[in-house]
Amino acid sequence: MSGTSAIALIQGASRGIGLQFCKTLLLRNSATTVVATCRDPNSSSELAQLKVNNDRLHVCKLDVTKENDISDVSKYVTEKFGKLDLLINCAGMLHPSGKGETSLRSVDGQDLLLTLHTNAVGPLLMAKMFSPLLLNGNGQFGVLSADPKATHCGIIANMSAKVGSITDNGLGGWYSYRMSKAALNMATKNLSIEFGRGRKKIICVSLHPGTVNTDLSRPYHKNVPNLFTTEYSVDCLLKVIDSLTVEDSGKFFTYDRTVLPY
Ligand SMILES: NC(=O)c1ccc[n+]([C@@H]2O[C@H](COP(=O)([O-])OP(=O)(O)OC[C@H]3O[C@@H](n4cnc5c(N)ncnc54)[C@H](OP(=O)(O)O)[C@@H]3O)[C@@H](O)[C@H]2O)c1
Repeated sequence: MSGTSAIALIQGASRGIGLQFCKTLLLRNSATTVVATCRDPNSSSELAQLKVNNDRLHVCKLDVTKENDISDVSKYVTEKFGKLDLLINCAGMLHPSGKGETSLRSVDGQDLLLTLHTNAVGPLLMAKMFSPLLLNGNGQFGVLSADPKATHCGIIANMSAKVGSITDNGLGGWYSYRMSKAALNMATKNLSIEFGRGRKKIICVSLHPGTVNTDLSRPYHKNVPNLFTTEYSVDCLLKVIDSLTVEDSGKFFTYDRTVLPY
């Protein structure tokens, strides 16, 4: 990353991995400004605490299932900065009940739709409304190519999950979550094609953070021998983001930069 001002937007920053992205990005480079979005800025005490004495953190209200919220924040970023270098779509839910379905019997249409809306539709609309700003970015994250015609101006990182890999699915279950992350991965692939065509390019990737100690994974912690801290996962994911080139666009990376099959 170069020394000039970089703008990163973390969508879903009230807690867990999204909150940690904000903390780490602010700490590691004094030239980075972070726009942190969350459903209810008043109820995230950790984000409010981070904001104290930190004029490089902007907190905006955004429910990713509400198009008006997405549009309002894109107007805010346009007026304040006129560009964006990195968009991380981090908000996500396992299932409205907090636990994945164990069999088809427990699938509920409304729960499935809400999971799809939050995990796949919302991130795609984020890409739609923030891509004009990313096209104004100046490649502050990732590796710039020596060839100005083959380089990128911005990055979209969609927080996916290994269980969204169709190839890797050996266990079944978790219909809503698996389907929503598979749909998100298809969005990543499509975006990479669309934003790989023009003179200005946006790198689009899906990321798997490992199994991380957050509220989302809490019901399953006892089954996980190697549970990551948010600090460790985000350090790994930022190393992956820092290493991205245009050739990586459209891929699905784990925290250790292994490429997962869709
Ligand atoms: N933890 C893991 O082991 C793991 C593994 C693989 C993938 N992931 C993925 O990593 C991402 C972050 O998960 P996490 O573990 O940090 O989960 P988490 O601690 O449960 O946090 C979930 C975040 O999503 C936000 N959110 C949910 N619905 C939203 C909506 N409609 N609009 C805006 N924000 C919304 C929550 O905001 P509120 O505070 O307002 O509820 C919260 O900030 C997710 O996409 C998840 O699927 C996590």
